[in-house]
Amino acid sequence: ATSQGKGKIGIIGSGLIGRSWAMIFASAGYNVTMFDIKESQLTGAMADITNQLAELQKSGTLRGALTAEQQRALISVTSDMKEAVTGAFHVQECVPENEELKKKVFSEMEQYADDAAVLCSSVSYIEPSKLFAHLKRRSQFIAAHPTNPPYYCPLVEIIPSPWTEQSVVSRTRTLLEEVGQVPVTVKKEIYGFALNRMQIAIVNEAWRLVADGVMSPEDVDKVFTAGLGMRYAFCGPFEVIHLNAEGIASYLERYGSTIQRVSSTFGPPPAFTGPVYDAIVQDNDAHYPLDKLQEMRGWRDARLVALAKLKKDMEDN
Ligand code: NAI
Repeated sequence: ATSQGKGKIGIIGSGLIGRSWAMIFASAGYNVTMFDIKESQLTGAMADITNQLAELQKSGTLRGALTAEQQRALISVTSDMKEAVTGAFHVQECVPENEELKKKVFSEMEQYADDAAVLCSSVSYIEPSKLFAHLKRRSQFIAAHPTNPPYYCPLVEIIPSPWTEQSVVSRTRTLLEEVGQVPVTVKKEIYGFALNRMQIAIVNEAWRLVADGVMSPEDVDKVFTAGLGMRYAFCGPFEVIHLNAEGIASYLERYGSTIQRVSSTFGPPPAFTGPVYDAIVQDNDAHYPLDKLQEMRGWRDARLVALAKLKKDMEDN
């Protein structure tokens, strides 16, 4: 059923991220074979993908030049890992974030992989050298951490391990660019990479501001949606401060000592327990009901699509 595409990509794990990668690769015309240990996940993934592609087509936001039906036909599923990996030039692992599980899955992947295949992990936090050290073919392994939801947020962090071959790094980058993602390279391994480390710094300070009674959770959200986030969709943190004065040197001359004074008042990492935890969780669940998550994701995605279009129209990606 999948003979029309440009080349084969294997996907290991058909959850949230595996499905997104399948859609992204199919949108660029690749044949995708998705493997999962759970048959019900595979059935669910195909139904979900078919549905999403149809919706995207209807709203005019489908990626790539092919129709929803053509993209759907490029994706197949299997309950045999060998079938997903054999003959693939790129294999994207998307199993849960568990070191032992991932290591086991990689050992199996390398048994079936072509010599020239790029073996790539979607890992979010764990350093690749921990995940790949035990492998015979570790020079072929690399990590590429997407941003949720990957279909709408193009950033992918590429993290080579100390053993990853240079050509594996460049082929991963080229493929991601070709399918429309925006790769960045983490040059030196660090727990949590760059995106999650920055997100965690923000979550920690948001939590402390609420815990210390400085601001309500709703207003903390507005600090982003009406404030910082407006700029950050277009300018990174260095560019923001550069433009907020006569260049970054002038900014730091004016505000450097203030930044240091504020930095020294940041509290320790929050514990995420106790009455403050109860209050924040309750408040958040009341504002964003748990039975409406799917609806809210649709709401979010519609806005991300519009933002992506704006960025594209302004050639500002
Ligand atoms: P998920 O729980 O939605 O999907 C995991 C899938 O892997 C399930 O379908 C499960 O049946 C399958 N699976 C479990 N063991 C397996 C095995 N041995 N072989 C094959 N399939 C197996 O998880 P999700 O969210 O898709 O995450 C996958 C990876 O992507 C994790 O490393 C995660 O950290 C990373 N990631 C997640 C993001 C997110 O926001 N959810 C964002 C970026 C990366």
